[in-house]
Amino acid sequence: MSNYHIKHLEEYFQVYRKSVRNPEAFWEEIAEEHFVWRKKWNNVLSWDFSKPEIKWFEGAKLNITENCIDRHLPTRGDKTAILFEPNDPNEEAQHITYRDLHERVCRMANVLLDQGVKKGDRVCIYLPMIPELAVAVLACARIGAIHSVVFAGFSSSALAARINDSDCKIVLTSDGSYRGSKTIDLKGIVDKALDNCPGVKSVLVAKRINTDIPMKDGRDHWLQPLLDEAYADCVAEIMDAEDPLFILYTSGSTGKPKGMVHTTGGYMVYSAYTFKNVFQYREEDVYWCTADIGWITGHSYIVYGPLANGATTVMFEGVPSYPDFGRFWEVVEKHKVTQFYTAPTAIRALAKENLEFIDKYDLSSLKVLGSVGEPINEEAWHWYNTNVGKKNSPIVDTWWQTETGGIMITPIPYVTPTTPTYATLPFIGIQPALMDEEGKELKGKQVSGRLCIKYPWPSIARTIWGDHDRYRDTYFSAYKDMYFSGDGAFRDAVGYYRITGRVDDVVIVSGHNLGTAPIEDSINEHPAVAESAIVGFPHDIKGNALYGYVILKEVGESRNRENLAKEINQQITEHIGPIAKLDKIQFVSGLPKTRSGKIMRRILRKIASKDTSNLGDTSTLLNPEVVEEIINGAL
Ligand code: PRX
Repeated sequence: MSNYHIKHLEEYFQVYRKSVRNPEAFWEEIAEEHFVWRKKWNNVLSWDFSKPEIKWFEGAKLNITENCIDRHLPTRGDKTAILFEPNDPNEEAQHITYRDLHERVCRMANVLLDQGVKKGDRVCIYLPMIPELAVAVLACARIGAIHSVVFAGFSSSALAARINDSDCKIVLTSDGSYRGSKTIDLKGIVDKALDNCPGVKSVLVAKRINTDIPMKDGRDHWLQPLLDEAYADCVAEIMDAEDPLFILYTSGSTGKPKGMVHTTGGYMVYSAYTFKNVFQYREEDVYWCTADIGWITGHSYIVYGPLANGATTVMFEGVPSYPDFGRFWEVVEKHKVTQFYTAPTAIRALAKENLEFIDKYDLSSLKVLGSVGEPINEEAWHWYNTNVGKKNSPIVDTWWQTETGGIMITPIPYVTPTTPTYATLPFIGIQPALMDEEGKELKGKQVSGRLCIKYPWPSIARTIWGDHDRYRDTYFSAYKDMYFSGDGAFRDAVGYYRITGRVDDVVIVSGHNLGTAPIEDSINEHPAVAESAIVGFPHDIKGNALYGYVILKEVGESRNRENLAKEINQQITEHIGPIAKLDKIQFVSGLPKTRSGKIMRRILRKIASKDTSNLGDTSTLLNPEVVEEIINGAL
């Protein structure tokens, strides 16, 4: 088990040095010792960031589900793999053992095969956080189909765009979902989406809320009877290490969402290795990540990473506020959770509530707390540390992205001393660099720059589905031979990294990555709107919220502004989803533009943040007078 489980700081430095001195040898050793391969690789790594082309473990053959399920059966067959905690605390939790999981995945895989799904086909999964979601993901992997999970909070048009972009022929969904006290008509959203998806030939529907829903003849099938009939074993498809495992969409600063493609071998090795170390996972632990499997956090750290380690991973269907704000802590006590991984936005929301909600539960099982998705502010960090961790559980502030597949900068708990708001040190094998805007690397300490990574790591995304040029342009063209993350960071005197936020037009709202351009496109489709610009501004709970500046077509537009604002938000909800709604809308007569016609978002950001003291030189603008008008309107 050499190097697999780091236990003290000197060991971290020693293993880190080894991993960057000779990354190929390092990852080869990890891959060889801790995973099962049908055939070993011919070559550990080949790469060229200028193309870009990255291949890990080329020539190797494997199936990731054999690593996540089958190999555990002899020793962990009766161990809980997935612990499902339903939305309603009165509904019994389900303990799905590794043996049960094997059977459920095999049945689902056989159903997919019966539906004509073949290796390499794309399968869209639009399911709530119920066991079928994890099972469907693994069933795709079992037969070599590429899963594309779409978060079940996205609207029908967002879903349709994702289905069409990757040409999915089949969709898995449910009759509906529970979300706190509400139910959501998921199948209705799918039906609407499919009006615009001619390629989809079948829809498999899981029952969750047991309502009567329309089923389209020939296209829609209830899932359960098919599972009941299916054979309970399914031979795993043998995959190349570089065969795609999944597509997961993420927002870009421009244009349509990017379908990030992750491949099999490297992703498996890195998600499993990071899981083991970042959470200091041990055999008897009960690990809980509160993310949705619709995001990368759920892919890597609810499904693949934990299961590859034979862990018990909690899958939570509900929300932190239902039936009250003590729900998270009730679940921690009930299942004796040892590692708890959540987002700063949830921490901030819970920190606003009475401490009674937390104090009535026994949280002494907790050993490690995690944070992901956005910068964690100092106040939230201290609240988390004091009230949840009782100053006894280290907080791992983990920086990473959909594109990176796994955690990149993070403390290792009980190993790396933590500092609030700092993601601290690069994980093993990760070589960060801070760059200035001219393309020069900022070496040394106490510097701020754009966060890049110099060398490939096993779980880096390999391309954008159907648009390799965009992949190159977005991540590899800003700096030669570097992966550019789109984030800014500061490196302090001891070499710790602090992530300072996006340097592009992506805004992180409640930990969700939102590109401003698609939201602007949606607003501009409103018949009364001529043009719009979106920026982020600080928000107590969400971290950032969206502020929209909207120019109407008719200056004297007589309609009630409040109604227009509602319509605009309604439209955004339909096009993208409720997460992209604007908190503030200001109707303006113009937007500050440079002489070349580019919107000066820097100014709009400052106005939205009520920080108008230092707007810089506005005289070079095409229309400087508009700035004053916007400031006055914003007061
Ligand atoms: O800006 C960074 C922020 O979230 C972005 C990635 O979003 P997404 O692809 O949706 O993945 C989120 C979950 C991995 C990053 O570019 N971000 C993520 N984690 C942190 C963070 N910002 C600060 N600190 C973090 N720990």
